[in-house]
Amino acid sequence: MSLAEALVVFTPSGRRARFPHGTTVLDAARSLGVDLDAVCGGRGICGRCQIEVSEGEHAKHGITATASHLSPIGEVERRYAAERGLADGRRLGCAARIAGDLVVDVPPESQVYRQVVRKEAEERAIVLDPVVRLYYVEVEQPTLESPAADARRLREALAREWGLEGLELDLHVLAGLQAALRTGGFGVTVAVHDGTSVSAIWPGLHERVFGIAFDVGSTTVAGHLCDLTSGEVLASAGEMNPQIRFGEDLMSRVSYVMLNPGAQTELTRLVRGCLAKLTAQLAAAAAVAREDVLEATVVGNPIMHHLLLGLDPTELGSAPFALTVDEGLRLSAAALGLPVHPGARAYVLPCIAGHVGADTAGMILAEAPHLADEVTLLVDVGTNAEIVLGNRERLLAASSPTGPAFEGAQITYGQRAAPGAIERVRIDPETLEPRIRVVGCEAWSDEPGFAEARVTGICGSGIIEALAELHLAGVLGSDGTIDGRLAERTARVVPEGRTYAYVLHAAEPRILITQDDVRQIQLAKAALHAGCRLLLDRYGLERVERIRLAGAFGSQIDPVHALVLGLVPDCEPERVTAAGNAAGTGARIALLNGAARREIEEVVRTVEKVETAVEPRFQEHFVDALAIPHARDPYERLSQTVALPARRAGGQRRERARRAGAAAGRRRS
Ligand code: FES
Repeated sequence: MSLAEALVVFTPSGRRARFPHGTTVLDAARSLGVDLDAVCGGRGICGRCQIEVSEGEHAKHGITATASHLSPIGEVERRYAAERGLADGRRLGCAARIAGDLVVDVPPESQVYRQVVRKEAEERAIVLDPVVRLYYVEVEQPTLESPAADARRLREALAREWGLEGLELDLHVLAGLQAALRTGGFGVTVAVHDGTSVSAIWPGLHERVFGIAFDVGSTTVAGHLCDLTSGEVLASAGEMNPQIRFGEDLMSRVSYVMLNPGAQTELTRLVRGCLAKLTAQLAAAAAVAREDVLEATVVGNPIMHHLLLGLDPTELGSAPFALTVDEGLRLSAAALGLPVHPGARAYVLPCIAGHVGADTAGMILAEAPHLADEVTLLVDVGTNAEIVLGNRERLLAASSPTGPAFEGAQITYGQRAAPGAIERVRIDPETLEPRIRVVGCEAWSDEPGFAEARVTGICGSGIIEALAELHLAGVLGSDGTIDGRLAERTARVVPEGRTYAYVLHAAEPRILITQDDVRQIQLAKAALHAGCRLLLDRYGLERVERIRLAGAFGSQIDPVHALVLGLVPDCEPERVTAAGNAAGTGARIALLNGAARREIEEVVRTVEKVETAVEPRFQEHFVDALAIPHARDPYERLSQTVALPARRAGGQRRERARRAGAAAGRRRS
């Protein structure tokens, strides 16, 4: 007599088949290749295999599913529910058996390859597929008759229960093997790295392991601690890069290394110390043991990349900017001095060229221009701007030396974006009076609530807005000169030596925007614009349809103001958007998805590098881009939505000419 069968449909995959009554839901899922987690291998202890029955009539499948089409809750589930709790309607897939037609819903937390939610807009979904996986196994105990070594029996158990053949065992795993087996009653959890080696072992069931994605910038170093089993970011932290005392910008650090033998070791020690400190902070913030951190990924510009790895950055200081290594690197986390599990690994994303580093690789991974049809311009604005242009057919990359002005350095009242820094500015074109907002206070200066705000200086996004608004209000000409004639009309324009300044904050502390500040920003923005323009030339494009601004500064600046000033080439303002910390997101993607590492390694091999320093047209583009917004490009697409003063100036000129003509006519008559 054949066994009764039932139709079982899994959602969201939609996979379906008939199964004999009595089959466990986990076995049915496995036979269909449905993604259902099961760290403990079906022993009813991990709770990862939870499912729900989607009750009701499912006309599409021609069945009616009810919870009673599963075997009644038995001892295993009762025990699990008592110890760990099991929500209403939830069943353990490894314990519940099929007893009738079913539509089984596998919730996201029970999927191994679930999608991780990203907060950023226009996000690329991250599919969770980390290189570290946990497996619980029960190993046969040795006997006099069968005295095989513990390591051999562990390997056999992993092959038998999980189909994992030929695994290497790290030395420290061997060192802890016997104790773990005996403490765990011969049940242990192992961490398998990349399907090839056992990198950690714990007695009994061990359910969570963690990873940290590091973004090593020249100014700040950031880390995100993620749960490798859920993909969730549990803690984020940032620290100033302690190397900063050896120079604000990258080149001064390279010069320091060149001039001071042995300094490289010190810079390496400092940045590694910073990563170690962040690791401790992140683990404490997430209440996670550092020993449970098994994986780390790192992005950074080429010089930070070399210094972190202990490689000499001297060659990166001058043409031809030769990297020691550009491939993605797989290392032990201990080699980078990370205070985590001794078996933890680190992955350093590949560099693209001598000035285009692993941070740009991270940005590409996060923004995925190589998967899109539309050509996108990606710009990470920092001390050095990294620029990527292209789509699935072709990708170009360059970096442009913008200098630290965008970060508030070299600006008279400039400062980093910390509480008290002016970050938003609006200037009334009639009265020329400003309204400002500072970091740490939501109110504008003409709103109640601003009185308590402390004003300390102006940050990068603030200076961009201020200059763009001054330009729109007619205070700042296209050549970047503050119009001194306005001093007669407003107390906001004041003489400053042989030039003029604009008083942005008249109360104490008095904050001026000087002519020299304008020049610094003009130089920085011209370098950025010229880099973008070179890539467009190389690609054979006049215009780009979509621009993404990345990095802390890039994400802060208002797209319209960036366009008004001509930081980037003309584009529809609504097609210029913030990409958030794209490099850091790339590090997080590489942390959570092993395939992404292979993907970015392949993509960077195809990227065409454009070396701005030796491109003959760079200078020409640079000079044109010094003007606001640009000497030759009228920014037609921007002017559809914003009345640019070039037009108003033209109008004023025409008006002056008309009046002059009329006066001449009157004189004649
Ligand atoms: Fe672990 Fe079901 S597989 S409880």
